[in-house]
Amino acid sequence: MAFPEDYKDRVKRINADLMATLEVMEDKTLKAAMSHYPAAGGKRLRPLLATMACEAVGGKWEAAVPFGVSLELVHNFTLVHDDVMDEDDMRRGIRTVHSQWGVPEAILAGDAMFARAFEVVLETDVDGERTSQLVGVLARAVRLLAEGQQMDMSFERMKAVTAEEYIKMIERKTAVLYSAAAQGGAIVGGASESVQEELFEYGRLMGIAFQIWDDVLDLRSDQKTFGKPVLNDIRNGKKTIIVVDALSKLDGKAKAEFLQTLGKKEATEKELLRARYLLESVGSIDHAARGASENLAAAKGHLAVLKEGPHREALKTLADFMMGRKT
Ligand code: IPE
Ligand code: IPE
Ligand code: MG
Ligand code: MG
Ligand code: MG
Repeated sequence: MAFPEDYKDRVKRINADLMATLEVMEDKTLKAAMSHYPAAGGKRLRPLLATMACEAVGGKWEAAVPFGVSLELVHNFTLVHDDVMDEDDMRRGIRTVHSQWGVPEAILAGDAMFARAFEVVLETDVDGERTSQLVGVLARAVRLLAEGQQMDMSFERMKAVTAEEYIKMIERKTAVLYSAAAQGGAIVGGASESVQEELFEYGRLMGIAFQIWDDVLDLRSDQKTFGKPVLNDIRNGKKTIIVVDALSKLDGKAKAEFLQTLGKKEATEKELLRARYLLESVGSIDHAARGASENLAAAKGHLAVLKEGPHREALKTLADFMMGRKT
């Protein structure tokens, strides 16, 4: 099976189950705020990965749907809060939750989705021991994600960040949900601990590549295609790997000019485009793309632990999808 063409029915099933989990909400405002992103689309990469990992270890993909849905709930909760933090007004082509309902509503919608994720994971049809493992995987991921998001914010105010610090930050804010998806899917499918560990590593490296590519798209995509604002990472002073690399390569007037715009909330489009030009001129965007590609190659290496066949191949095409995608 090739990704994503052959997974349309699976996405439909995930979407139906995801929307159904929000039916328990009584408060109309909170329910609307919680349904806003799930109803607007999204790639569903994390639940898909969970189901694909499950079948690659010999389980039925359907068994991993509740775990996948719980990850998607966590993901959407973090998006709601992330948009408050990043002051973004568009996501998935529509207004962000806080810009439509307000920050208090966005905080509560996120909290309720977070809690709902833990109710949903308990619906997984596995024995008690595997259920507690899944709960542990999910809880650990959310804890690390919060740390990663804090690092992302703290880095905005720091002058210099190293490539190692950047990788540690994205491993936490983004890759944890991919490693959790792959490991959790393997747990549901009944995999041994060593297979779980390999899949965890595959997810982690793939998640790193995914975030590097997201940082590239912030510079190279346009708002209509991307579904969210572009060039805002520059405006917010984000220390992406692209910026980290460029700060080591730019000098003199060009560096001073770049630093003037980096983190300037009221930067004009002209200034932002000039900053992007400077990043391109020293090859930092291409450098990041190469880094993403290396992480994907390493991720695929960990699939060697799986039985050869279409399910293993599918996980390779999923990895390839992380880069080159436009949204
Ligand atoms: C966006 O994730 C947040 C990041 C970690 C960069 P996705 O690109 O998976 O967002 P959706 O779910 O498809 O909207
Ligand atoms: C994604 O970081 C991390 C989380 C949402 C947890 P970004 O801030 O780059 O994500 P987008 O670009 O807003 O989707
Ligand atoms: Mg952010
Ligand atoms: Mg953001
Ligand atoms: Mg981004």
